[in-house]
Amino acid sequence: MKAAIESLASIEQEASKGIEGASTLHELDQVRVRYLGRKGSLTGILRSLASMPAEERRSVGKEANRLKALLGQRIEERTRQITEEMARRVEGQAAQLDVTLPGRKTWLGHKHPLSQGLQEIVDVFLRMGFSIAVGPDVEWDYYNFEALNMPADHPARDMWSTFFITDTMLLRTHTSPVQIRVMEREKPPIRIITPGRCYRVDLDASHAPNLHQIEGLYVDRDVSLGDLKGTLELFAAAVYGDDVKSRFVPSYFPFTEPSAEMYISCTICGGTGCRVCHSGWVEILGCGMVDPAVFEAVGYDAEEWTGFAFGMGVERVLMLKHRIDDIRLFYENDVRFLRQF
Ligand code: DAH
Repeated sequence: MKAAIESLASIEQEASKGIEGASTLHELDQVRVRYLGRKGSLTGILRSLASMPAEERRSVGKEANRLKALLGQRIEERTRQITEEMARRVEGQAAQLDVTLPGRKTWLGHKHPLSQGLQEIVDVFLRMGFSIAVGPDVEWDYYNFEALNMPADHPARDMWSTFFITDTMLLRTHTSPVQIRVMEREKPPIRIITPGRCYRVDLDASHAPNLHQIEGLYVDRDVSLGDLKGTLELFAAAVYGDDVKSRFVPSYFPFTEPSAEMYISCTICGGTGCRVCHSGWVEILGCGMVDPAVFEAVGYDAEEWTGFAFGMGVERVLMLKHRIDDIRLFYENDVRFLRQF
């Protein structure tokens, strides 16, 4: 009996110390479990009462139950204290917080203006029923020139200052070779656009050694120059707004006959003539009716099939849209430029 009473006394001492010392609700609960939990030491003594002789059970039981009630009370009291302390701490922190201070802005990245613009142009043609086709950047001379009606030593090859890799392999100078690749493997009707990167030996404010083009090709029966004009006028209105005016000026490309260049009214002066456009008009793309020689190269019957094609420089189209005066801005990755889009 003496032993049991003594251990109750030491439980009281230790538990009281533990309860006082607990500084969080979690610590306090650990103390509770240690003495009052299912395997707690006080619980153990209470359980052993049943096997004690009657006299011992009475006095030990009385003491153990008193202690149980006491510890319960102290834990409750300490819980209230800790909760109040926490509330005071949070209030103190809130008092130091000035919620009227302006927030700190974090910069979010976004798509590069070129990617944005390319997507915008592509979307215009997707809405018209064109689908996307792509080809390799490293191209055979055959696809880049020969099948496009420019055999070896054809003078028109000079229109493209070319990075040759070998005598027969080069970095494509335009996206036109994708026309050939698609027609070689598919039968008409064909309606594709081909966004992609091209390369030229060139560098100044309006020429970069790598640039992006979007080529269009439409092949079917009875395709007319009117279809070409209508399609490109729709494109110009979608990108530059309904007020834009356009005109088609006769030109020459070996793969189209007749060929034309499309001009739009200058976006800077609105068509009255300025330092940039001189005449009020600026050229945005090349186009024409697919030359029968191109159809022959891919095995189409030129009597049966007709088509139009066009090719535009994405940087150029976007420079006119956003009035950017130097193509190199697209590649320098100066955030002061990029953030404007
Ligand atoms: N490939 C030409 C260039 O890079 C642009 C072009 C002109 C594409 C006429 C065409 C076209 O499809 O029909 O300058």
